[in-house]
Amino acid sequence: MRQILTGGQIFSKDGFLRGDLVIEDGIVSEIGAGDASGGNPVVSKDNFIRCNGNPIDCRGLSILPGLVDVHVHLREPGFSFKETIASGTAAAAAGGVTAVCSMPNLDPAPDNPEHLEVQRAAIRKDARVRVVPFGCITKGQRGTGALADLEGMAPYVAGFSDDGRGVQEDALMEQAMRLAKRLDRPIVAHCEDNRLLCPGGCIHAGRYAAAHGLVGISSESEWRQVERDLKLAAKTGCRYHVCHVSTKESVALIRQAKRAGVAVSCETAPHYLLLCEDDLADEGRFKMNPPLRSAADREALLEGLCDGTIDLIATDHAPHTAEEKSRRLAGSLMGVVGLETAFPVLYTKLVRGGVLSLAALVEKMSLAPRRLFRLPGGLEKGKQADLAVFDLDREYIVDPERFYSMGRATPFAGWRVRGESRMTMVKGEVVWQRNTQER
Ligand code: DOR
Repeated sequence: MRQILTGGQIFSKDGFLRGDLVIEDGIVSEIGAGDASGGNPVVSKDNFIRCNGNPIDCRGLSILPGLVDVHVHLREPGFSFKETIASGTAAAAAGGVTAVCSMPNLDPAPDNPEHLEVQRAAIRKDARVRVVPFGCITKGQRGTGALADLEGMAPYVAGFSDDGRGVQEDALMEQAMRLAKRLDRPIVAHCEDNRLLCPGGCIHAGRYAAAHGLVGISSESEWRQVERDLKLAAKTGCRYHVCHVSTKESVALIRQAKRAGVAVSCETAPHYLLLCEDDLADEGRFKMNPPLRSAADREALLEGLCDGTIDLIATDHAPHTAEEKSRRLAGSLMGVVGLETAFPVLYTKLVRGGVLSLAALVEKMSLAPRRLFRLPGGLEKGKQADLAVFDLDREYIVDPERFYSMGRATPFAGWRVRGESRMTMVKGEVVWQRNTQER
């Protein structure tokens, strides 16, 4: 089977290429073939004869390597009333995301191969994009007590995480890191020291909390555990990845550890880069953990993103029901959705806003996560064709009612953005295409 995408500008590390993208049996076989002038692409008669599908017209569109989101809550098994593998991966496909790593706060929590298999079976049945799960670090994903069966799960997982909870005991984390190192899998840490939390904490312990009488979540509850883990990572040699970095102190600690040669990587999420506590309204769609921090934290995150301290951007897509998000800042559950908005909001604010080049954004949202988590596919010759086609000029308004995700809570609702996804391919197959007639 031969598939040709004609006339688009095709992303490559050396800049955009013009011409045809040829995919054979799901594998990228030619990039930029045909007319290099950017005019009508030359697809030879011969190509047409061997092309089983019609050539896909990508004139005016940009073909990017499929985005990779290593921090996604798909909620199945256990919480299918919030999201399912089917709905979450449809949202991914519609956002140009071709691979996700799924978080283990599920029921049953994937803490042994049998529990993990429940999720893997659902993935095999319903996933529209690649899904590689994380296994739990601790039994029951409790963040305390005993280790999960890391060894039994290792062949099937991208790494180990207790996301939603920090691992509270130093000795337990050290044990996890030693084992993960032996298994050659990363520890992917939600950093939160419960001893530094106040009951009922709902937003950053800063200006807004003080002004509105809300209980705050301190920066220290995050960075203290980052600090501890960096020491353990240095000691054990484990590959260590910090989830959703939100504080300036964490950025500084990670920068320092990288300089010292610790095998650490980290992510932040679009909302921490584009918003801070000054943007809060008393609505559930602004509530997530960690919370939106201060303007100074946001600045430090942008700096860390630009200087390479922050390796990648992941969404922490965390869907909840409308009712669970309707109880304002104090009472709503933590978490916002992100798969369908990440690229356009970042492209609009950071690329069009002059902070990052498009190539740098693609590095942070596609190349770096794929490399660090050793995921297959992409837009290089010889790889399985995982790609996302965007209309970078098309402007539209973010409307959560149109999401494929069952979760609707996003701080970006109503934003005017550019960069509309048009088509997504996984392993050379079109898994989603926008019906441009219907928008
Ligand atoms: O906001 C969040 N939501 N942060 C987490 O760490 C967990 C997540 C969830 O599962 O809802």
